[in-house]
Amino acid sequence: MALSSIRFGIIGFGNMGKGHAAYLAAGEVPGASLAAVADVIPASLQAARTQYGERLKYYETPEALLASGEIDAVLVATPHYDHVPLTKAALARGIHALVEKPAGVYTKEVRELNATAAAAKATYGIMFNQRARGAHQKVRELVASGELGEIRRTEYVITNWLRSQAYYNSGGWRGTWAGEGGGVLMNQCPHNLDLFQWFCGMPSRVRAFCKFGHLHNIEVEDSVTAYLEYPNGATGVFITTTGEAPGVNRLEIAGDRGRLVLENDAITFYRTRQSVSELIKTTPSSFPNLESWTISIPTGPAGEEHKGITKNFVSAILHGTPLLAKGEEGIHGLELANAMLLSTWIDHWVNLPLDDDRYHAELQKRIATSSYKKPAV
Ligand SMILES: NC(=O)c1ccc[n+]([C@@H]2O[C@H](COP(=O)([O-])OP(=O)(O)OC[C@H]3O[C@@H](n4cnc5c(N)ncnc54)[C@H](O)[C@@H]3O)[C@@H](O)[C@H]2O)c1
Repeated sequence: MALSSIRFGIIGFGNMGKGHAAYLAAGEVPGASLAAVADVIPASLQAARTQYGERLKYYETPEALLASGEIDAVLVATPHYDHVPLTKAALARGIHALVEKPAGVYTKEVRELNATAAAAKATYGIMFNQRARGAHQKVRELVASGELGEIRRTEYVITNWLRSQAYYNSGGWRGTWAGEGGGVLMNQCPHNLDLFQWFCGMPSRVRAFCKFGHLHNIEVEDSVTAYLEYPNGATGVFITTTGEAPGVNRLEIAGDRGRLVLENDAITFYRTRQSVSELIKTTPSSFPNLESWTISIPTGPAGEEHKGITKNFVSAILHGTPLLAKGEEGIHGLELANAMLLSTWIDHWVNLPLDDDRYHAELQKRIATSSYKKPAV
C-alpha cells in the first residue's frame, strides 16, 4: 500500500541524531514525522526522552526499533561500524534507510550492503548533505555539461577540518582503527571525497601518503596527501588534515576549455577562448598566449544541507523523485579513502577498482596489533 506520510525512527541520538531529530520533530520535512528513537546508551536515550517526552517511542536497541512496526524509515546516525549492519537490517525488512556518511568502513562490506539494497523493496539514501549545496550542484553541472572541456587536472585542498584532542577524546570510538576505522578520511572527508568523484569521476590509480597520529594523540590518519591518475590521463591531488589553521577549502579543476576554482562557496571560471589542446597543436607561436575571460558563476541558493537530503529522500519514497544521494553511491568516496590508506600501508600505487579483500585484511591487521590507549575522558 502506498504511504502518504513517513514515520521516521532515528538510530543513535548523538550529535548528528539530535540534529536530524530537531528538524523532523519540528515538522520541517513535508510528508514526514519523527516517531521513535533508539540508542544503546541509556543516558543518550534518556536525553531523547527528556527532550521529546510522550510524543515518541523509545527503544534500547536498534533491533527492537526495526521490529516495532512503528516506523516506515530509519535514519542511521551511529558510529561507522554499525552503518552497514543496521542499514542492511532495515532494508531487508523493507524499511527505507537513510544512512549517515560514510556508507561503511571498508568497501567489502559496502558492496554487500549494495547487493542487499538492490534486492530490497525500500529506498536507500545516504546523508551526503554537501550535494545539496547550490555551489556544488553548479560545479557538477559545469563539468557534466562539457563547459570546462575534458578534465586535465584536479586539485582539492580541504584543510578546514580543525579538530582538537578534546574532540578525539570525546567519544570512545573516535580516532581508532577498531572504533572508527580511520581518521580524517573516514570522518570528515567522506563529504569531499564524494564530491570529488561526483564532479570529476573516479581515478584509475592512487598513490597516497597518510600520516597517522601526526598532529593529535590518535592512531589513525590526521594528515593526507594523495596523487590520483584518471582513465583519460588527467592527474589530481587531494590534501587534507584536521590539524591546520586557518584552513583552506579550495577545489580547482583544469579542463581543455579553462579552469574552475571553487572557494568560499564562490565559483570562478577562467574560460579560454578556444580549446587548449587545439591551440597547442595548431599555433605557430612557441610561447602562445591564450585569451581567457574571468567569469564569476552564480551559485544559486545555498541549499538546505541535511534537511535538504532528508526532504529529497522522503519525496523519493512518496513521489518517486530521483534521489540526490543514492545510498549505493556511497561506495565511491569510501573506495578513494580505502585506496589512500592502503597505498600508504603498502607504500605503493593502488589500482581501482580496489582489491576489497586486501584492504579488509590490512585493516584487520591494524585492529589486531593496535597498542593505542585512548586518553581517559
Ligand atoms: N553528515 C554530517 O554532516 C555529519 C556530521 C557529523 C557526524 N556525522 C556522522 O554521524 C554519525 C554519528 O556521529 P556523531 O558525531 O553523532 O556521534 P556521537 O558519538 O555523538 O553519537 C552516536 C550515538 O550513537 C549511539 N550508538 C552507538 N552505537 C549504537 C547502536 N548500535 N545502536 C544505537 N545507537 C548507537 C551512541 O550511544 C551515541 O548516542 C557518524 O557516522 C558520523 O560520521 C555526519
